Amino acid sequence: MSLIDTYQLSNDVTIPVVGFGTWQTPNGAVANFAIKAALASGYRHIDTAEMYGNEQSIGKAIKETGIRRNSLFITSKLNNHAHNYAAATAAIDQSLQDLQTDYLDLFLIHWPNPKPARDENWKKSLQDTWRALEDAYKAGKLRAIGVSNFKPHHFAILEQTQTIVPMVNQIRICPGDWDTETIEYCRNHNILLEAYSPLGTGKIFTDPTMKEIAAAKKRTVAQICIRWSLQHNFLPLPKSVHEDRIENNTHVFDFELTDTEMAKIDALDGIVGYASDPDKVDF
Ligand SMILES: NC(=O)c1ccc[n+]([C@@H]2O[C@H](COP(=O)([O-])OP(=O)(O)OC[C@H]3O[C@@H](n4cnc5c(N)ncnc54)[C@H](OP(=O)(O)O)[C@@H]3O)[C@@H](O)[C@H]2O)c1
Repeated sequence: MSLIDTYQLSNDVTIPVVGFGTWQTPNGAVANFAIKAALASGYRHIDTAEMYGNEQSIGKAIKETGIRRNSLFITSKLNNHAHNYAAATAAIDQSLQDLQTDYLDLFLIHWPNPKPARDENWKKSLQDTWRALEDAYKAGKLRAIGVSNFKPHHFAILEQTQTIVPMVNQIRICPGDWDTETIEYCRNHNILLEAYSPLGTGKIFTDPTMKEIAAAKKRTVAQICIRWSLQHNFLPLPKSVHEDRIENNTHVFDFELTDTEMAKIDALDGIVGYASDPDKVDF
C-alpha cells in the first residue's frame, strides 16, 4: 500500500487512503509552503474547508506545482452559516472559485446542527442543504458528496428526503476517541469513515502507551497513529505545516502493528479528550 492507494466510495469514485489536513494552516505563505511540501512528499489528497480560510492559498499552491488536476483529490466543506439551499449552492461555487477548479472531488456538510441554523427549522434546513449538494453532484460540480460530524440521528433526518446516500462521514477518530456507534452505522450503510484529528490535534505525543509502542517499533507516535487508523480501514487526515513532519507522516506503509499492539491502542480512552457534541457546538 502507498499514499496513492485508494478506497472506493459507494458511487465507485476512488479516494487516496490518506489525506493531508489543513485546519489551522494559515492562508498565505504557510499554506502555500505546506501544500507544496505535501505534494512533494507524495500526498495527492487534500482536505480543506471554507471555515479554514485557506482555500485561496491552497488553490494557488496547487496551480503553481503544475500537478495535473485529475491526479489530485480535493475536499472542501460547507461553512456553518450556509445551511439552506441558496446559500449552500453559492458556497459550493465560491469554493470552486477559490480553489481554482471546475469541480471538487468531495464536498461535505461540515456540521449537522451548527449554531447559526439551530432553530425550530434546523432539520428542514439540513435537508434543503443536502439537496443543494445533491444537485451540485448531479450537475457535475462535485464528484462525491458527504457529511462530517454526523451521528446516526443526523443521518435519519437526511433519510427522510435524500435521493443520494452520503458517501463519506468525516469524524474525529484517534486513539482514545472513536464513536463506535457512528462507526458501526457508517459501515452498515457503506459510508466511508474519514478520521479527522488522527494525532489528537497534536495532543497525543506524550501518551505513555503510544510512546512505548512507537519506541518498540522504532517509529514516531504520529506514524503509529496513522497506521492504527489505516489498519482499521479509516482514512486518516494528518495535518502539519513542517516539511520534516509532513514527510515523516507518509512512512506508514512499510510496517504493521500486531494484533496485541492494535488491541492496546484500541483500549485507550480519553487520552486526547473527546469530539465536540455536534448538537451543542458554539459555532
Ligand atoms: N471535519 C471537521 O470538523 C474537522 C475537525 C478537525 C480536523 N479536521 C481535518 O482533519 C485534519 C487533521 O486534524 P487536526 O488538524 O485536528 O490535527 P492532527 O492531524 O490530529 O494533529 C496536527 C498537530 O500535530 C502536529 N504534528 C503533525 N505531525 C507531527 C509529527 N510527525 N510530529 C510531531 N507533531 C506533529 C502538528 O503540528 P505542526 O502543524 O506545527 O507540524 C499539529 O499541531 C485537519 O487539519 C482537518 O483537515 C476536520
